[in-house]
Amino acid sequence: MANSLSAASITEDLGTRFIGQRVVYFPRLSSTMEVAKRQARRGAVDGTVIITEEQTAGRGRIKRTWLSPKGSIALSIILYPDVAYLPSLIMLASLAVVHSIEAVTGLKPGIKWPNDVVINGRKVCGILIESDMRGKMVDYAIIGIGINANLKLSDLPEISQTATSLADELGRDVSRLDMIQYLLVKAERLYLTLQAGGSIYEEWRDNLVTLGRQVQVNWGKTVCGGIAESVARDGSLLLRQSDGSLAKIVAGDVTLRH
Ligand code: BTN
Repeated sequence: MANSLSAASITEDLGTRFIGQRVVYFPRLSSTMEVAKRQARRGAVDGTVIITEEQTAGRGRIKRTWLSPKGSIALSIILYPDVAYLPSLIMLASLAVVHSIEAVTGLKPGIKWPNDVVINGRKVCGILIESDMRGKMVDYAIIGIGINANLKLSDLPEISQTATSLADELGRDVSRLDMIQYLLVKAERLYLTLQAGGSIYEEWRDNLVTLGRQVQVNWGKTVCGGIAESVARDGSLLLRQSDGSLAKIVAGDVTLRH
């Protein structure tokens, strides 16, 4: 397959200290999250990346399925973060994706709270963070990233109304290798910023397309609406409701209203 990936091509000359220095590649897999979780439980080295060309049972947030046929980018990064950085991992992942898309394609993506990366209102990337605790310590955290890279959305009617791909936006395929390498380098820089006591919250907030917009938030059977006024440092959304009260939304699915 043209532009196919390999562990060696990703690690070669990768400018990172640990993220992506070990890459485990599969041509086809159920879900990179599953394999990453098994490896993390066995103590895989910090920064290990599990990557595949194609997932047969990709997982999304809120128990949704995630379509990742050939041409997608589907990977999971294994980390062992301090518990203090756990809420920042969604910020880190979405920012790393935004920067890699901008740098490699010139497109201008934004972040739809909490961590969907969108281009012109359509989703181009989904992020799933899964972690396990041992007492008060993080046992492991896995950042799962799925990017609609070289897909034709016209082949995927299930999502073609709400999603887009880099290739559809550009009218040509992109180098997935460049995207992945840039993504891993940026993810590590942001992680090192956190470890050095720095903040990535401001940059994440400034890249949100949600703020100032009328939104509807769904979480389980709960639905609420209002103006997305701000985000707190822990990543939660501050929603100004019609009665004037401010609701703090920790998790949910946002629909932007026009
Ligand atoms: C979402 O927007 O609902 C999150 C989608 C996350 C998809 C990625 S693809 C790589 C990793 N493996 C999975 O099964 N899911 C994540």
